[in-house]
Amino acid sequence: MAKVLVVGGAGYIGSHVAKLLQKKGHQVSVFDDLSTGFRELAKYGDFHLGSILDPQEVRAVIKQVAPDAVLHFAARAAVGESVENPSLYYEVNVAGSYQLFSALRELAPKAKIIFSSTCAVYGAVEGRLNETLPLNPVNPYGRTKKMIEEMLADFSHAYDTRYVSLRYFNASGADAEGEIGEMHNPETHLIPRLLENALDPSFEMKIFGDKHATPDGSCIRDYIHVEDLADAHLRAMEYLLNGGKSDVFNLGTAKGSSVFEVLKLVESTSERKLKYQIVGARAGDPPALIADSSKIERVLGWKPKNDLKSIVHSAWSWIQKRPR
Ligand code: UFG
Repeated sequence: MAKVLVVGGAGYIGSHVAKLLQKKGHQVSVFDDLSTGFRELAKYGDFHLGSILDPQEVRAVIKQVAPDAVLHFAARAAVGESVENPSLYYEVNVAGSYQLFSALRELAPKAKIIFSSTCAVYGAVEGRLNETLPLNPVNPYGRTKKMIEEMLADFSHAYDTRYVSLRYFNASGADAEGEIGEMHNPETHLIPRLLENALDPSFEMKIFGDKHATPDGSCIRDYIHVEDLADAHLRAMEYLLNGGKSDVFNLGTAKGSSVFEVLKLVESTSERKLKYQIVGARAGDPPALIADSSKIERVLGWKPKNDLKSIVHSAWSWIQKRPR
């Protein structure tokens, strides 16, 4: 059993990971300032209200928990917002991560770090993306995540900090037991927006472009179930605690689905016909992003168990009953 500090554990992905860790018998403590997270999602383990931007609050929680492992989810994560307000992203993501890592270095230098990175670090690249590609992020969000990965690599080299960065593709779906699921305010992601549209026909649904260089003209993404993500975090943590070296892994399914394919699946799952409007492409949207996740399969024995159907199914169950 490990003492695990889940930083940003009141958010969508952090809460699913906290649930799995607790289920596996680990001692979970969540640290979150609730700036984008929700108190009702932080129901696994102890809850500590505080911000990574406040060195005293960070130090206090590290001293109290004395973690063996720290899972770092706390970040701003909307691409469009990062273009409009990059300062917020450099502050929360880069400066906040620095506060966290330097406090850990001082107070819990042996703690292993699992960092939430993103496929946005690659930029617009064609084909299946693997971890050896150069990183050319095309928006401030991706740039901040790349900087944090570089900070970790430098800390690892100089101070022997051990970490794993997980580069998520499109996280989606909800807990199979229906206790938690995706909540963002505002919601920008495709699957919850389509489902919201199925629930409320007055919700204005826009499809961003049907003239991309893809077979049906809409963007292709690699949707990965949040429970498969959670399983990868557990494996990455166990790997580091068992002496594994610092590393970086993609997390996707290697299967792409277009916006129109997702839309059709939402229609069949909800048994409702959706009304939507096709508008111009969203700035900065690469036509296709698909993971090559063979490295994590090879090194950590991880394999996704869910397909797009189970993603949409679980998200549909959740959205109908989630707190509003
Ligand atoms: N889309 C629509 N209408 C909407 C919302 C989305 O057509 O109302 C389209 C987008 O244009 C895109 C696809 O649906 O083609 C998926 O969009 P999401 O916003 O759900 O996800 P993104 O692929 O834009 O973003 C994800 C992660 C980010 C990450 C990014 C990397 O959520 O954290 O991939 O490109 F940075």
